[in-house]
Amino acid sequence: MPPRKIIIDTDPGQDDAVAILLALASPELEVLAITAVAGNVPLDLTQKNARIICELADRTDIPVHAGCDRPLARKLVTAEHVHGKTGLDGPTLPDPVMPLSGGHAVDAIIDILRREPTGSVTLCPLGPLTNIATAFQRAPDIIERVQQIVLMGGAYFEVGNITPAAEFNIYVDPEAAAVVFASGIDLVIHSLDVTHKALTSRARVEAFRDLGSPVGKAVAEWTDFFERYDKEKYGSEGAPLHDPCVIAYLLKPVLFTGRRINVEVEVDSPLTRGMTVADWWGVTDRPANALFIGDIDDAAFFDLLTERLARL
Ligand code: RIB
Ligand code: CA
Repeated sequence: MPPRKIIIDTDPGQDDAVAILLALASPELEVLAITAVAGNVPLDLTQKNARIICELADRTDIPVHAGCDRPLARKLVTAEHVHGKTGLDGPTLPDPVMPLSGGHAVDAIIDILRREPTGSVTLCPLGPLTNIATAFQRAPDIIERVQQIVLMGGAYFEVGNITPAAEFNIYVDPEAAAVVFASGIDLVIHSLDVTHKALTSRARVEAFRDLGSPVGKAVAEWTDFFERYDKEKYGSEGAPLHDPCVIAYLLKPVLFTGRRINVEVEVDSPLTRGMTVADWWGVTDRPANALFIGDIDDAAFFDLLTERLARL
């Protein structure tokens, strides 16, 4: 079985970093490119962090492109309060030596989708959807060429994490999310409803550290830093590893359960902008446009993650 071709669109972010490492450690996947977008921290840092992560994984062969530095129609909102000033606070890692790949991330997404056979590339957005939406607006012909979009974003039963109503990735660029959710592409949404069940614990973080490798050490130290915010806010034992859920789903979908429902994005209301309105109980006749993931086998998820990180 040939590896599944993916593009990871990302705003690293410690949890993005773990997701990227999981993908790079998994031979079932071929990462065609990593495209950076402004989100957790500004673009100059997310593109730098993406290269730091590739170098940590000894994968400087992966093309990294810088993309959009602000949302389609809003001022950029960042999340240094969660991820720290660099976006990858925790371990001290060297500045990247590998260069950015030439060309804007949006052009890279368009070129790859036009180059690869129709239906052979999956998009894996882990941050605001600005790059993806811009590519669709600039080159509508690529929409039908996308195999699937498996993203981290949104919330329903779990409500918001950046406002009472909205999850960060969707909140930052609700207009972009609305474009992607209306695209008609087969969509799998990993919202806070599932990622808040993928919680770290001391034992799980120590299992990363016990790998005894630079990757294991970095992941443990990222998680140590990243979890302080969520543990204090939610009073939970650990922090949600949001973005790795996307990659784990590609590797072992049986670890996840969800429902095919309609999900729309609020873009007008100042109070609920970025809210993902998930018709979980089918009370509208709006077409089902997404598989909305609600549950995870978290023990198996962390076993998979640790086993794969051990390969780097
Ligand atoms: O709300 C969680 C999401 O926002 C994650 O993707 C995290 O990395 C941030 O981008
Ligand atoms: Ca992210």
